[in-house]
Amino acid sequence: MSDSAPVTPEKSTPGAPRSNYNNWISAIGAVLAIGAIFSFAFLLWMDLTGSGNNPYLGIFTYIVAPGFFFTGAAIMIFGAWAQRRWAIKHSHAPDKWRLDFHNPKQRRLLGVFIVGGVMFLMLSAFGSYQSYHIAESNAFCGQVCHTAMNPEYVTYQRSAHARVDCVDCHIGSGALWFVKAKLNGIHQLIAYTVTDYNRPIETPLKNLRPAQDICEKCHWPEKFHGNVEINYEHFLSDRKNTPYTARMLMHVNTNKAGAPVGGIHWHVNKDEKVEYFTADPKRQEIPWMRVTNLKDNTVKVYRTEDFKDEPPAADIRVMDCMDCHNRPAHAFPTANDSVEKSMVTGALSLKLPNIKRVAVQAMTQDDMGTDAEAPGKIEAFLREKYSDPAYAELLPAAIAEVQHIFSVSIYPDRKADWRVYPNNIGHKDWPGCFRCHDNLHTTDQGQAVSSSDCTSCHSILAQGKAGQLNQLSAAGLEFDHPGGELDPDLTCADCHNGGIQQ
Ligand code: HEC
Ligand code: HEC
Ligand code: HEC
Ligand code: HEC
Ligand code: HEC
Ligand code: HEC
Repeated sequence: MSDSAPVTPEKSTPGAPRSNYNNWISAIGAVLAIGAIFSFAFLLWMDLTGSGNNPYLGIFTYIVAPGFFFTGAAIMIFGAWAQRRWAIKHSHAPDKWRLDFHNPKQRRLLGVFIVGGVMFLMLSAFGSYQSYHIAESNAFCGQVCHTAMNPEYVTYQRSAHARVDCVDCHIGSGALWFVKAKLNGIHQLIAYTVTDYNRPIETPLKNLRPAQDICEKCHWPEKFHGNVEINYEHFLSDRKNTPYTARMLMHVNTNKAGAPVGGIHWHVNKDEKVEYFTADPKRQEIPWMRVTNLKDNTVKVYRTEDFKDEPPAADIRVMDCMDCHNRPAHAFPTANDSVEKSMVTGALSLKLPNIKRVAVQAMTQDDMGTDAEAPGKIEAFLREKYSDPAYAELLPAAIAEVQHIFSVSIYPDRKADWRVYPNNIGHKDWPGCFRCHDNLHTTDQGQAVSSSDCTSCHSILAQGKAGQLNQLSAAGLEFDHPGGELDPDLTCADCHNGGIQQ
C-alpha cells in the first residue's frame, strides 16, 4: 500500500504535505474527544429516555462530557501546532511526533495505546456512572459535597419533606435549570475550597426556581384545604412552667358560595396576581405591593407612607408559595419552640423550676464558642442554675436533652439558626404576614390591606391550660394574651424573638 501512496513514504520525502494531525499528541486528543462523543450520546440517550432519572445526569451530559470533548479537541489542535513547529524548526528530521505504522516499535506502542484507550473509556464510563449515583443521594448533597449545608441537611431530615430529594426542590428537571444551578454550584465550590463560603449561607436563594416548577409538581394551588387546625403548645417562662396552648383554625381556604376561593391561599389563586417590592435582602421589609385581577385587569397598589417612589421593575417579585412557606424543608426552630417541644414530650422534666427559661438561656448565651465547645458551656450553665442537690437526679437527662436540642437547631460554626433564617409563615417571632397585613400599607385612596384583624386569617377555638382547653368556641375566642394586654402599636415580633422575652 505504501508504494502506491505518494505521500506516505515519510523518511524519503521530508516535509511532505502530510496532515499535521498525524501525531501522537493529536491521537491522544482524538481518543479523548471520541470517548466524550460516545459518553455524550450514551448519557443523552439515558436523559431523554428517562432511564437515568437523575438530575445529576445533566452535569455529566451537558458539562463533563462536552468538557472532555473540548479538552480532547484542544489537545488535537495543540498536537498539530507542536508538530508543525517541530517540522519547521527541524527540517532535517520533521517526524519526531508522527505516527508511523511501519515502525514495529511504534506499532507495539500503538497496541498498548489502543488497549489503554479502551480501558480508559470503560473506566471513565463506569466512574461517571458511579459518581453520579453517589452525587444524587441526599446525604451527598447535605454532607459530603456541601458540608457547608449540614444545618440544612439536619433540619431537612426533621421536615415534612424529608423524603423529597434535595434536587427535586433545588434543581428540578430540565437541562437549563440544571446548568444554572450547577454554575452557581461551581461558584460555591470555588468559594468553598478557598474556605470563605458564606457563614451562614445567604438566604433567600436568588436563583431558586419558581414555585410552579417545584412545589406545584406535587401540590397544586387549586387544591382546597379548607380550615386547617393547629395546636400551638407553649409554656410561660415562669417558675411553674405554666402551660399555654392556643388551638387554632387556620382559614387556608374559605368557600363563599359562587365567589372565588378566598382565605390564606387566596394569594396564589389563578385569578389574582400579588406582587411586591423589597429592598431588604432578607425580604423582611415590604414597602410596596400590587394586586392585579387577571380577569378584569384592575390594579391596586398599596404602599407605606414613606415609600413614594416607583420600585424598579426588575426587582418586583410575584408572590408564590415560597413567600409564606419559605422554610418547607429547613425550618430552624426558635430556641423557645424547640425547648417547648421537649417539654411537651416530657424529654425535659417540668419538675425543674423555670426549666423553659433556663434551657433557653443556656442555648442562647452570649458566647457559645464553636460547635465542639457549646455542649460544655450548656452543661456548665445548667449545673450552676440547678446546683441544689434536690435536682441531682433530674439534671443529667436535662443536660443531655438541651445539648441535643442545641445540636439540631443551632450551628455556631456555620452561624446558622432561626435568628438568620426567618420563617415567614406566621407573625409571632418574625414579621411574616405582618410585613403586608399591618394596616400601614394603603392605596392612594387611603384603603388599607383588608384581612388584617385577628380573625381574618384564623379563629381561636380554645386557649389556656389543660382545663380551659376543654371549652371550645366554634365562633372563635378573643386572644387572651398570656403576656398581658396587647399594645396595638406594637407588633408581636417587636417583643417576641424566639428567645426569652425582655
Ligand atoms: C421541599 C423543598 C426542599 C427540599 C426537599 C430541600 N430544600 Fe433546600 N431550600 C428550599 C427552599 C424553598 C429554600 C429557600 C428559602 C429561601 O429562599 O428563603 C431552601 C434553601 C436552601 C439552602 C440555602 C440556605 C437556607 O437555609 O436558606 C440550602 C443550602 C439548601 N436549601 C440545601 C438543601 C439540601 C442540602 C437539601 C437536601 C438534604 C435540601 N435543601 C432540600 C426547599 C427545599
Ligand atoms: C416531590 C414532591 C413534593 C414537592 C416537590 C414539594 N412537596 Fe410539599 N409535601 C409533599 C408531601 C408528600 C407532603 C406530605 C408529607 C407528610 O404528610 O408527611 C408535603 C407536605 C407539605 C406541606 C405540609 C407541611 C406540614 O408540615 O404538614 C406544605 C406546607 C408543603 N408540603 C409545601 C411545599 C412547598 C412550599 C413546596 C415547594 C418549595 C413543596 N411543598 C414541594 C411533597 C412535595
Ligand atoms: C407581599 C404582601 C403580603 C404578604 C406577605 C401576605 N399577604 Fe395576605 N394579602 C396581601 C394582599 C395585597 C391582599 C389583598 C388585599 C386586598 O386587596 O384587599 C391579601 C389578602 C389576604 C387575605 C384575604 C383573602 C380573601 O379571602 O380575599 C388573607 C386571609 C391573607 N391575605 C392572609 C395572609 C397570611 C396568613 C399571610 C402570611 C402567611 C399573608 N397573607 C401574607 C398581601 C400579602
Ligand atoms: C399567604 C401565604 C401562603 C401562600 C402564598 C401559600 N400558603 Fe400554603 N399555607 C399557608 C398557611 C398559613 C397554611 C396553614 C398551615 C400553617 O399555618 O402552617 C398553609 C397550608 C398549606 C398546606 C398544608 C395544608 C394541610 O392540610 O396541612 C399545604 C400543602 C400548602 N399550604 C401548600 C402551599 C402551596 C403549594 C402553595 C403555592 C401554590 C402555598 N401553600 C401558598 C400560607 C400560604
Ligand atoms: C394576615 C393573617 C393573620 C392575621 C391578620 C393575624 N394572624 Fe395570627 N397567625 C397567622 C398565621 C398564618 C399563623 C400561623 C403561623 C404558623 O403556622 O406557625 C398565626 C398564628 C397565630 C398565633 C399562634 C402563634 C404561636 O406560635 O403560638 C396566635 C396566638 C395568633 N396568630 C394571634 C393573632 C392575633 C392576636 C392577631 C391580631 C392582632 C392575629 N393573630 C392576626 C395569620 C394571621
Ligand atoms: C409588649 C411585648 C409583647 C407583645 C407586643 C406581644 N407579646 Fe406575647 N408575650 C409577651 C410576654 C412578656 C409573654 C410572657 C412570656 C413568658 O412568660 O415566657 C408573652 C407570651 C406570649 C405567648 C405564650 C408564651 C410564648 O412564649 O409563646 C404567646 C403565644 C404570645 N405571647 C403571642 C403573642 C402574639 C400572637 C402577639 C402579637 C399579636 C404578641 N404575643 C405580642 C410579650 C409580648
